[in-house]
Amino acid sequence: MGWSERLPALALALLLAACERDMADQRKYQPLEAASIFPNGQSAQLPPEGTVARETALELSEDRPPGPPTLDRLQRGRERYDIFCAPCHGRVGDGRGMVPERGFPAPPSYHSERLRSAPDRHFYEVMSRGFGAMYPYADRIAPEDRWAIVAYIRALQLSQHATLKDAREAGVAEPLERQP
Ligand code: HEC
Repeated sequence: MGWSERLPALALALLLAACERDMADQRKYQPLEAASIFPNGQSAQLPPEGTVARETALELSEDRPPGPPTLDRLQRGRERYDIFCAPCHGRVGDGRGMVPERGFPAPPSYHSERLRSAPDRHFYEVMSRGFGAMYPYADRIAPEDRWAIVAYIRALQLSQHATLKDAREAGVAEPLERQP
């Protein structure tokens, strides 16, 4: 490649370098400096009334459960649960996962009376914000997946407390008398 061909690239590099320095050196207000261009004379202006923080807006829009669970959502919930929660909470939610067996504080069983009667939102909030020794999962599990996990935890809870009558009514158990 000859000089004449390299020249445009070189010129561009110089131009961009200059651009960068200009941005660093540009005139600007330091934090809380006075500014005569604003009516109240302050450079730091309050956000316009009614402004909602981006994170808050995201949370508000995704904070609602997406309606009754479908089989697809339950399966998605099981997959995410087995990845993110089972290592500590155990595959059936009894709190006897691999991690607490090796010294991490043991989580409570989902099958206690307290957690069985806790609202769906409690599980969602625990995942979103963390709870005591448990760290939050908001940055790793999308809101719709958090709801899918809640649905699956409900299924787990039912699985440990369903009666034969429940199973019959759901059409998943043969009546005892018909079994050989
Ligand atoms: C690294 C281990 C660990 C993982 C992974 C984990 N948890 Fe936990 N979880 C805990 C511990 C420990 C507690 C008890 C915290 C405490 O009481 O200080 C807990 C508590 C809870 C509670 C009970 C809160 C209450 O009211 O007592 C729920 C619900 C819960 N976790 C849900 C989840 C879900 C859903 C996931 C997966 C997205 C998950 N956890 C992943 C360790 C874990």
